[in-house]
Amino acid sequence: MSGKLKVAALSVAAVMTIAGGMRSVANAESMPPQEAPPAADAAAESPCHPLMSQSPARIAGVLNGVERYGSTYVLVVPQRLAESIPNAKAPGVKDLKVAVEGGSSAAAAARAVGITQITEYADESSAPFRALQDANDGKVDAAVMWAPLAGLGILELGLDGVVNVIAIDRPHAVPAAYTAAGINEPCAAAIREELDVSGVLPAELLVPVEIRPLLTRRVPPANIEEAHRGEAVFNQVCARCHGQDAVADPKGLAPVDLRYSIRRFSFPGFNYIVLNGRPERSMPPLRGTVTDEQIRFIYQYLKARSNKVLTSDLDNKPPASAQQNQTPEKGTNQ
Ligand code: HEC
Repeated sequence: MSGKLKVAALSVAAVMTIAGGMRSVANAESMPPQEAPPAADAAAESPCHPLMSQSPARIAGVLNGVERYGSTYVLVVPQRLAESIPNAKAPGVKDLKVAVEGGSSAAAAARAVGITQITEYADESSAPFRALQDANDGKVDAAVMWAPLAGLGILELGLDGVVNVIAIDRPHAVPAAYTAAGINEPCAAAIREELDVSGVLPAELLVPVEIRPLLTRRVPPANIEEAHRGEAVFNQVCARCHGQDAVADPKGLAPVDLRYSIRRFSFPGFNYIVLNGRPERSMPPLRGTVTDEQIRFIYQYLKARSNKVLTSDLDNKPPASAQQNQTPEKGTNQ
């Protein structure tokens, strides 16, 4: 993208370096200097750094590769306002003067949380971080932006820890200038991590799951190809709690064995649990993490595992705590 942007990024990074330097002087006793690299170096080492010089199509692809935050818009507040604006429901939110990028749903998302003083910039994709920069420079109080773009801007401008990022409103569409198929690469993962550690809640999670529309979802006819695709998604998303290949580890995060418990669930019920989680039993809501199609694939997979259409080498391994389980196992083996 434009040289102008890079120059602007550098000058902000330079200011941050000075601020960072002052901070490390103040903390000199407690913090060895090598543990607090200047912000400029951090930006240069970011896996996103070369991104801004690439084609708009590639930038759009990477931003759409940021998992879970594709329909999230955020309020970016400089640290000086962090105390008065801890979340989007704070009374002070309504008095903020915010800047938003045109051509996106940012203005609508801002209005939805009661913000009225909105400056909408022309849709000028050569300066995608202008709202962010103006908020940081104090020209406006805050910026409302599409979350992946805000995450990239924070990494590029070295604003990590200098601004607070707050999810607002319900899911909204990707800005027109950035619609593209997602590309999964290290920069997309870095942006997601930046949003994760900022405590941003994906907008999908702000919308409660309604069970009624799920009731019309029909059990899909068994399909081994879908089951294989479900295996990949399962091992990527569910296995860390429910065990590799759906073989429950009795000492794991989720001791229930889905190869058996899948038989109890109706298809709508299964969809509901995956989308909504079981917060009271530490299963997180996974809406925004898996698509409806992926939930169907996982269902196919668990059914196939349950019917032994698909098997795993792990099936024959005695569970880690076999000795504790001996009594129930004897019962089922007879
Ligand atoms: C962070 C850990 C975690 C992840 C990730 C996770 N779960 Fe769970 N899940 C749990 C816990 C904990 C329970 C509750 C166990 C209990 O009821 O004792 C649970 C319960 C369930 C149940 C209800 C089981 C029953 O018999 O009541 C289903 C179905 C389920 N999970 C499916 C999934 C699927 C499918 C995925 C992946 C898309 C997934 N879970 C991802 C932790 C997780």
